[in-house]
Amino acid sequence: MIEFKISKETTDINVDFTNKTEKHKGFEGKEGETLWKDEKTILAGIGEKPTGETYRRTAGIILNIIRKKEPKSATFNNAGENAKEIAEGILLASYSFDKYKEKKNHSLTTVHIPEAKNTNFEELTKLFEAVNYSREIANENSNIITPTFLVKEAKRISKETGLKCTILGKKELEEEKLGLILGVGSGGEHEPALIILEHGSDKDGTPIALIGKGVCFDTGGLNIKIQQMQDMRFDMCGAATVLALMKLSDEKKIRRHIIGVIPAVENFVDAKSYRPGDIYTACNGATVEISNTDAEGRLILGDAIAYTVKKYKPEKIITIATLTGAVLVALGDYIAGLVSTDDKTAKEIIAAGETTGEYVWQLPINKDYIEEMKGDRSTCKNLGYADGKYAGTITGAAFLTYFTDKTPLTHLDTAGLSWMTKQRWYYEKGATGFGVRLLWEWLRKKK
Ligand code: BES
Ligand code: MN
Ligand code: ZN
Repeated sequence: MIEFKISKETTDINVDFTNKTEKHKGFEGKEGETLWKDEKTILAGIGEKPTGETYRRTAGIILNIIRKKEPKSATFNNAGENAKEIAEGILLASYSFDKYKEKKNHSLTTVHIPEAKNTNFEELTKLFEAVNYSREIANENSNIITPTFLVKEAKRISKETGLKCTILGKKELEEEKLGLILGVGSGGEHEPALIILEHGSDKDGTPIALIGKGVCFDTGGLNIKIQQMQDMRFDMCGAATVLALMKLSDEKKIRRHIIGVIPAVENFVDAKSYRPGDIYTACNGATVEISNTDAEGRLILGDAIAYTVKKYKPEKIITIATLTGAVLVALGDYIAGLVSTDDKTAKEIIAAGETTGEYVWQLPINKDYIEEMKGDRSTCKNLGYADGKYAGTITGAAFLTYFTDKTPLTHLDTAGLSWMTKQRWYYEKGATGFGVRLLWEWLRKKK
């Protein structure tokens, strides 16, 4: 872990944030520009109108440059009002999944930010430990991070904290009739589970439910994937975000009643796999025709939502999931998709994203899209219209409304943001921990 200091001491490297020109050296001080002024001093361009995110990104870019010299310490000068964001960029960029690397990434030991008098580094470090924890379990092999592992991990977290842990294993899923989770999980080597962690109690108010997609590996099932299967260990990033948020809720003793829910499955090809065309029944009695076994995320979320609504009657539900490739078509990998039946929460989460630099864009939903998910032989089907091609992200969310019993739902589709396909700013290639800072910021500020 990095030690942050505000004292001015001699360090191995000096970083100067600036928007001033050094003409003779071809440096204009634009955002993202860098220049080694001398052996020890690097200029970091922030441009004319830097935002908090400018400082976060610039700090990340700089860290990746200076670490090549393997310094022990560095001073970040001219932080102005943005010491916190600089520290955030450093903490994000310092994380690296190097378990399988021959040469481990170099990390700084001490960082000086003289203008950081008002920054609580202890609090900040805890937050980023949670973010990087979620990245670590998402990056790890899918043959290690199985549903069985997630169950053990939730139990371990519960032992270490005040969180109450409830596990529905295969037997309990059968007793409680969670037919969709059982269906999706039927082809997996590891049995499916529904993991529930609870922070606080009714004394702290009506609960908020955070539900994260935990597909430990998504082959597509019998509708096997022909593209991008090599990334599908990341299909449990929503689950990783929820685990991190529950740990944080306990650590930071937030005074709220929060239910963290993770449907955990493997979507595999096997003689026991669930089949396209068959109809499965969720625990709220809704029947679902499986149009395509690769649209599995919405199925397990649907059952998890229905169960959570029945057992905990939450005031609102937030789902976080790598749900659709369509969100990448709509928004790419710069902004996450949000679909909500609760405009107030949507606005709050979008605002939180402006603060943390985890940008979110709201897509519409109305009864027309919801009707498109109706089945001919069943309550609903898991593909939208035009064979799932039209409005894929919206119809994915529309499907979830069949399980909410009118509880307000805000759904985050993070398929474009949960991992990076190449290094960018403060993110190395791989899991980003997207949503941990975002939803923490929202929970913390929420009235
Ligand atoms: N996990 C995928 C979504 C995904 C795809 C995330 C690519 C990141 C990159 C999800 O389970 C899935 O397979 N969705 C299908 C839905 C389709 C069958 C309606 C998709 O997006 O192709
Ligand atoms: Mn899939
Ligand atoms: Zn999936």
